[in-house]
Amino acid sequence: MPSFTSKSLLTILAGAASVVAHGHVTNIVINGDSYQGYEINSFPYMANPPIVVGWTASNTDNGFVAPDAFSSADIICHRNSANAKGHAVVKAGDNISIQWDTWPESHHGPVIDYLANCGTAGCETLDKTALEFFKIDEVGLIDGSAAPGKWGSDQLIENGNSWLVQIPSNIAPGFYVLRHEIIALHSAGQANGAQNYPQCFNIQVTGTGTDKPAGVKGTALYTPNDAGILFNIYQSLTSYPVPGPALIKGAVNVAQARSAVARTATALTGLAAAPAATAAPATTTSVAAAPAVATTSAAVAVPTTTLVPSTTKAVTAAPTTTTAAPAATKPAKGGCRGKSQKRRAARRAAAAAAAAAAREAALARRHARDVAFLD
Ligand SMILES: *[C@@H]1O[C@H](CO)[C@@H](O)[C@H](O)[C@H]1NC(C)=O
Repeated sequence: MPSFTSKSLLTILAGAASVVAHGHVTNIVINGDSYQGYEINSFPYMANPPIVVGWTASNTDNGFVAPDAFSSADIICHRNSANAKGHAVVKAGDNISIQWDTWPESHHGPVIDYLANCGTAGCETLDKTALEFFKIDEVGLIDGSAAPGKWGSDQLIENGNSWLVQIPSNIAPGFYVLRHEIIALHSAGQANGAQNYPQCFNIQVTGTGTDKPAGVKGTALYTPNDAGILFNIYQSLTSYPVPGPALIKGAVNVAQARSAVARTATALTGLAAAPAATAAPATTTSVAAAPAVATTSAAVAVPTTTLVPSTTKAVTAAPTTTTAAPAATKPAKGGCRGKSQKRRAARRAAAAAAAAAAREAALARRHARDVAFLD
């Protein structure tokens, strides 16, 4: 549940040059396979959101983590984050394209990517505070000649709000959390003015690498007074120190480019190792078919982004077990008793429908209120 203190609200209002929408990651694309992310505009309002590769979080305002929270767990994978219950498969040396729904031009700053090894039990249940992140990619200031400069965030916008990161080929196979982050610096000239937008994804890296780089805890990545956090962009600049630990050996900043979506992929669960790209479609869809169905029906109340390829394949593949309503098959009783039972059943159904409608209306109101806090 997002809660805005009057202090953070004031900070937001003070820093807002104009009301603009921040963004979030809608999906990631690996060799044409698109995996859905945690859809912050709708999943928090669902009883059973789909299993996806993106970590759950409570930033329903599409908001940020401020420097005064750098030592809290919120900096790890965004506010009140919880482990994603699915993962994508990627070969070491391959690229992942991370697709944001939007990004405001005014929010200049670096784009940074980290990995943290989850160990043999995978990334679905481990304690996020134990994760140790090592940096695999960073792009800060590209051209500082004309203030406020050209930044990684500007390159992200140029590529349709997407970011391409290469999983270093020397990384040992295993389960990892990919921590992708934009740090907006438009207000960073003042204390506590930087805005961190971390987004996390579970991936399984395959390949023949052997490196297991050391990392640092999420809560130790940054401090509020780091040279790259407390930083004024409204001047002619020659350099910018990207905050966080140094890039690991083998890290490659690939040329930014868009990635086309060829297929919708379903998140793998547990320690499932089948590479999504080569698995038979029937196998991959069946893995997460049940949760996808359960949540699709709950999705009606809240607008969802159209950027995300829908999971219709999974939906249609699922067995339609819900159509057999047990109540209807009971033999009807005759006489007054049967009629009053029917009336009671009708009243119960009407009450349930009214309650569901009220719940949906309340969720829609909550969503409207949450997005009203933009910027
Ligand atoms: C990753 O992206 C870079 C830059 O666009 C490209 O040159 C390279 O071929 C890609 N690598 C793979 C394995 O697709």
